[in-house]
Amino acid sequence: MTATTAKGLMTVTVAALAIGLLGGCGGALDPRGEGADRIAGLWWLMFWLSLVPMAIVVGALAWILWKRRREGGPEPERPPIGAADRRDRLVIVLGGIVLPIALLLPVAVAMVATVEGEEQGRPALEIGVTGHQFWWDLEYPRPGATELGEGETFRTANEIHVPVGKPVELVATSEDVIHSFWVPQLQGKIDLIPGRTNRLTIEATEAGVYEGRCAELCGLGHAHMHLLVVAEEEEEFQGWLRQQSEPAAVDPSTATRETFADGCGPCHELRGVYESDSYRGDFGPDLTHLAGRRMIGAGTLSNTREALGRWIVDPHGVKPGNRMPDVGLGGEELAEIVDFLTELE
Ligand code: CUA
Repeated sequence: MTATTAKGLMTVTVAALAIGLLGGCGGALDPRGEGADRIAGLWWLMFWLSLVPMAIVVGALAWILWKRRREGGPEPERPPIGAADRRDRLVIVLGGIVLPIALLLPVAVAMVATVEGEEQGRPALEIGVTGHQFWWDLEYPRPGATELGEGETFRTANEIHVPVGKPVELVATSEDVIHSFWVPQLQGKIDLIPGRTNRLTIEATEAGVYEGRCAELCGLGHAHMHLLVVAEEEEEFQGWLRQQSEPAAVDPSTATRETFADGCGPCHELRGVYESDSYRGDFGPDLTHLAGRRMIGAGTLSNTREALGRWIVDPHGVKPGNRMPDVGLGGEELAEIVDFLTELE
């Protein structure tokens, strides 16, 4: 091996290590949830243990290169295959059997402990999460109830509010293709599969806003399928829940009502103002309290007046692959609808 090849090899090794470290970031190594905390612990154990064989291999390589450089001369003749002596056999047994077992056994034990450590008790609250191309439909029990089957529910989208320090169970499924729910700072991933229900418990240990995303390639709009988890103190959360369960507190003009019914109504629910007979939450997000959300388009744009206008006029330019049609609104009608949407606190 020449010095140039060795240098190249070292560069690749360092780059691979850097990519591995960066790839592991994105929040998973800065946990703020019970599940994410356990996963981060496992990640660090695997990282430090993997440094042992890495150090041995890189050390051996460096030593060989240094030795060859010092001795110079032609390549030494390789011994024939099968002529391994005692020392060679010892290296094979130690490096090929003993070392892997010593390193992988603790990882296996820690991995089982991580999975077993999952919260098994009764959750404080159930939230339905349904994946759509390319947004998240959320279903909450009405205030006072904690389970989805306990009676009436209400819907919202893309911004999950949870109480801090309480285990919340997500009841996850999909309406179309397989999606994957992932909020790295709170918990591992869970697949959302059509016709199947998966459950995942999340428990935020600190109040804050945590970014999540779809972690399974689900179509053209996959990269723009984000969500937010807002963890807040119990009292604040209950206030949000009560407010969200109410119908919209607006009184639009007849013209606005008609524009909404024609352009938005076929796909979006607006509780108290426009209730579609066919609406099942399977076309577009419930817009009842849209103005209270931080983002629109499943985390694509900040929820501002200007962004709402852009979204309605050019949904496919803003988010390619998005299922929202261009409804042909413009001029005064557009301004009227945008004004109205910003009132939906
Ligand atoms: Cu949904 Cu990717």
